[in-house]
Amino acid sequence: MKGVEIKPDIHWVGAIDWPVRDFHGYVTPKGTTYNNYLINDEDITLVDTVKYDFAEVSLRNIASIVDPAKIKNIVINHVENDHVSSLGTFMDIVPSAHIYISERGRQVIERFFDISAWDITVVKTGDELKCGKYTLQFIETPMLHWPDSIMTYVREAKLLISQDAFGQHLATSVRFDDDFITCASHSQLDEAVIDYYANILMPFGALIKSKIKAILDMGIPIDMIAPDHGLIWRGAPEHVLDMYMGMANGRADLSIAIIYDTMWKSTEIMTEPLVQGITDEGVDCKVIKLRETPMSFAITDVWKSRAFLVGSPTLNNEVFPSVAQFMTHLRGLRPKDRMVGAFGSYGWGGGAVKWLYGQFEEMKLEAVAGGPEVKYKPSSEEFAQCYEFGREFARQVRDYHKKYE
Ligand code: FEO
Repeated sequence: MKGVEIKPDIHWVGAIDWPVRDFHGYVTPKGTTYNNYLINDEDITLVDTVKYDFAEVSLRNIASIVDPAKIKNIVINHVENDHVSSLGTFMDIVPSAHIYISERGRQVIERFFDISAWDITVVKTGDELKCGKYTLQFIETPMLHWPDSIMTYVREAKLLISQDAFGQHLATSVRFDDDFITCASHSQLDEAVIDYYANILMPFGALIKSKIKAILDMGIPIDMIAPDHGLIWRGAPEHVLDMYMGMANGRADLSIAIIYDTMWKSTEIMTEPLVQGITDEGVDCKVIKLRETPMSFAITDVWKSRAFLVGSPTLNNEVFPSVAQFMTHLRGLRPKDRMVGAFGSYGWGGGAVKWLYGQFEEMKLEAVAGGPEVKYKPSSEEFAQCYEFGREFARQVRDYHKKYE
């Protein structure tokens, strides 16, 4: 590979990780990229580095444009390991480089590297760096999605280098959204955006909303958004901004995800009448068995749906372990604007359904009470009860969805 010019004298110099399928526990069936950008101006400036394993790839891409030893400045937008773990390698090559980073970012890199000899400038919103014909303007975006996060706006290029925000885990041979959708599809790209948001950014909806608004209020024209993963938004930067604002405002499909696990199929059997009841009310529905589905896929399906039901057997007076794991993960993601309910089965004594409703209450999600919990195997009466609960749940979800239309 070699660098790809994305604006005059601004180049993508990142790396494509085609085979990665486990990204710190997040399943990435289509791989990912680690994007960084070289501004080949009077003062040559690198924005972000890459994951450690890919330092040589990025350095080769830089060398296809300019001698890496000539880099004058390195901007660090975000200090998670997939972007900063090769910083030491870069600094070995250009020990005189000036580093521009947020204060929180500086505090993190000093835990990972010996920075005593490094020339570091801490930046905050409004600070600028003149590289020559290009001016970099820094924008703090704390908790979007780490405390250290900043974005770098290249004023004369109308280019927003947005670190993780607006990214997607997609390994592709093309670098731009409009090139991708000629060889794949817009829906595939949208799906990747939603998947990324659901698994990485879901807890930060309110911050995302206010930060996007603040950036738009700055009145800076943006005609390209270059994230640190996946495709660069050249054809439709407003499309991804709209998607983010929509998701931050609670946008979801009028559909219901049924997430469950099962021991001896009793809980699984209950999904049949639930699905029937839901679809008989004209609401779309999807069933996800946790032991057969990567966690991040289940999270994405929850996020895309206006509501979800969680089903679990009771095992030794506790919720089933895979369901507990799912709920722990979900709690951390702090979902909002979703209606919920629970169902399940037990042998000697129940409890999983009560536990699930307790979790929903703590998560401040609006729950439809009365989810069925059956002993051993659902009887025909309990089948009917599940069906009726499915119908009632779908009716309430349909009403609940109206406030988002
Ligand atoms: Fe792609 Fe938050 O790192």
